Amino acid sequence: MKKVKAIIFDAYGTLFDVNSAAEKCKSKIGDKWENFANYWRTTQLEYTWLRSLMKRHKDFWKITEDSLDKSMKVFKIHSSMRSELLDLYKVLSTFPEVFEVLQKLKAKEYKLSILSNGTPSLLHDLVKGNNLDLFFEDIFSIEEVGVYKPHSKVYDIPLKKYKIKKNEVAFLSANTWDISGGGNFGFNSIWVNRNDNVFDNLDFTPKNEIDSLKGLLDILK
Ligand code: LAC
Repeated sequence: MKKVKAIIFDAYGTLFDVNSAAEKCKSKIGDKWENFANYWRTTQLEYTWLRSLMKRHKDFWKITEDSLDKSMKVFKIHSSMRSELLDLYKVLSTFPEVFEVLQKLKAKEYKLSILSNGTPSLLHDLVKGNNLDLFFEDIFSIEEVGVYKPHSKVYDIPLKKYKIKKNEVAFLSANTWDISGGGNFGFNSIWVNRNDNVFDNLDFTPKNEIDSLKGLLDILK
């Protein structure tokens, strides 16, 4: 991959471990914590797509709360856990390799940025809390366009700012549908397949698949 002028990362699930909030409560939630975490994430994403289609935008934090409320009812989790889970969602951990990989990419002078559904303040707090603030040139939020991924307006945000072409972007996401979105748009989309998942049938196949961000260092050589 020679022409890359910017490396753009998805945030939730790619840099930050969305299941880490429920995992930190596993002694209170019990064995169902992982199914609950997956259900919460799926519901949250469904709400982003549905709201975009209905043209009833709500920011990602409110959607995170709304999807948590449904998930807690479904999994019969006591309402006293609500504020603890939400507080933990604001301080999600990164995946283990993230810091080191960003450090190496920065040393190679790549332009690094985030493009995410998250609100600007959620994303800034996550980046700062995990000591990643020196690595990123920009943190782009869909709030700039008021519609969620995978709308093409979202993937256009960094192109407008950097004045570069679609094929000069390496776009990384662990979310299959986000890779299809960015890939259909024209980015070099690299799927971070952390859990040995199967890719979607959405008429796009990523050229590159890696099992952690470490694989990116070989692709860019
Ligand atoms: C994001 C979600 C899709 O960060 O993971 O945009």
